[in-house]
Amino acid sequence: MNWLSDNVNQLALLGAAAILILTIGVTWKYFKQIKEGKSEGELKEENWDGIGEYKNNSPVGWSLAFIGTMIWGIWYWFFGYPLDAYSQIGEYNEEVKAYQARFESKWANPTKEDLLGMGEGVYLVQCSPCHGIDGTGIEGKAQDLTKRFINKEQVLSVIEHGSAALGDKVMDGQGQLGYPMGEMPPGLLSGADAVAVAEYVANGFKGNDKGAELYQSACASCHGPDGTGMDGMAPNLKEYDDKLIAAVLEHGKVGIIGTMPSFKGRLTKVQEKAVATYIRSLSE
Ligand code: HEC
Ligand code: HEC
Repeated sequence: MNWLSDNVNQLALLGAAAILILTIGVTWKYFKQIKEGKSEGELKEENWDGIGEYKNNSPVGWSLAFIGTMIWGIWYWFFGYPLDAYSQIGEYNEEVKAYQARFESKWANPTKEDLLGMGEGVYLVQCSPCHGIDGTGIEGKAQDLTKRFINKEQVLSVIEHGSAALGDKVMDGQGQLGYPMGEMPPGLLSGADAVAVAEYVANGFKGNDKGAELYQSACASCHGPDGTGMDGMAPNLKEYDDKLIAAVLEHGKVGIIGTMPSFKGRLTKVQEKAVATYIRSLSE
């Protein structure tokens, strides 16, 4: 018999037999006691309509079972519940962990083609609903990812409100993207100066001598003299780099277009790198 060779089935069968035997035994004992038993011992003083209680000690078996249940309950609550051992959740967690490890080791040294292919796959599933199949964004819904999101209006908004309070949406004040420089403070420039810098930056760091000069004095200390972000201290304003995309994926981003959701914990490191490679390829 095939099902009997499974030791879980065997155990269940044994358990069922034990429960059956115990039930019959205990029922038998009490039936006998009801028919033949005579009580003896000292009665308590209180009685209810003539019905009294004996001064008995708690039965040893009962007391042990009572204390045992409490100890078992504490063990089960704090240590025993098999979240990471055998349980459906535990088994699922173990399988996901093993699969992720296999995935990471398979793609430990991906080529650029691997990354582009994987990145396109991730992009089409996770990002295209908002950023569009071809990455050019869906009208008013999300950023066109074929070019760095730097236009005059957006730069002006960041200069006016700072990076942590965009329009009426106030962020936590820590800097939403987690760069070492933290939050970009509001009001570094205003009026015509702000407009000149915004035009210069939005124009790809060209033209506009006044803007160039103001940029060097007001912005270069964090974003670098050429706008590429000084080794990742602050965002690269010129083009997408892996660090910016990783930061947006981890923290999400609130801006003048809307809210980009955080993908923290939803992509592996390789997948993040792949999607970044794919996005950079869109503007090449
Ligand atoms: C104190 C350092 C610092 C200075 C000075 C600074 N920035 Fe920033 N900037 C940052 C940081 C850090 C971020 C990312 C903010 C975040 O994570 O919230 C940022 C973000 C930005 C963004 C948004 C980037 C994006 O992808 O949305 C723009 C645009 C920008 N800065 C332009 C400027 C301009 C123009 C100036 C000069 C007027 C300037 N910054 C001066 C640190 C600075
Ligand atoms: C729910 C819609 C939505 C989804 C899904 C989404 N995004 Fe976004 N994303 C946005 C919005 C809206 C913005 C613009 C935020 C702003 O106003 O600054 C944005 C901005 C970005 C930016 C910053 C652009 C810049 O130049 O500052 C990057 C990079 C980005 N998304 C990458 C991705 C990737 C990669 C995925 C898939 C893993 C993805 N997004 C999925 C809505 C979305």
